[in-house]
Amino acid sequence: MKLVLAADHGGFELKNQLAAALTAAGHEVTDLGTNEPASVDYPDYAHRAAKAILDGTHERGILVCGSGVGMSLAANRHPGIRAVVCSDTYTARLSREHNDANILALGQRVVGPGLAKDIVDAWLGAKFEGGRHSKRVEKIELPKYK
Ligand code: RB5
Repeated sequence: MKLVLAADHGGFELKNQLAAALTAAGHEVTDLGTNEPASVDYPDYAHRAAKAILDGTHERGILVCGSGVGMSLAANRHPGIRAVVCSDTYTARLSREHNDANILALGQRVVGPGLAKDIVDAWLGAKFEGGRHSKRVEKIELPKYK
């Protein structure tokens, strides 16, 4: 799968571990940084990753910051992006099956690397079920209510 990964200074270590594991597992990973502890602003990275999905070059994205919250808030400002913060595998799986989430946000200060890898595996391995969930996902986009 073509994946885009990005992180701020609070998440780049976990992002790098995930990038290595995903590449080893056969995924095509684009790493948008950051790659060092110098302080950066998470929205810059979230917006770049969102664009890399919306332009059709990447199927899904994984964003890491300290909590996962800032990354998900910024990414979700883009129509067509459905970003979810997860710290458990059940939410990760359901966010795919019911919500067709296309960005997973993780908190490096919340989950350890082992759990993070399990969450990523659950998220990447789950398929959107469509059916009754499709119209609900379509209704997430605000223009439907203008
Ligand atoms: C950076 O200190 C921290 O605020 C950021 O990584 C993230 O957790 C924001 O939501």
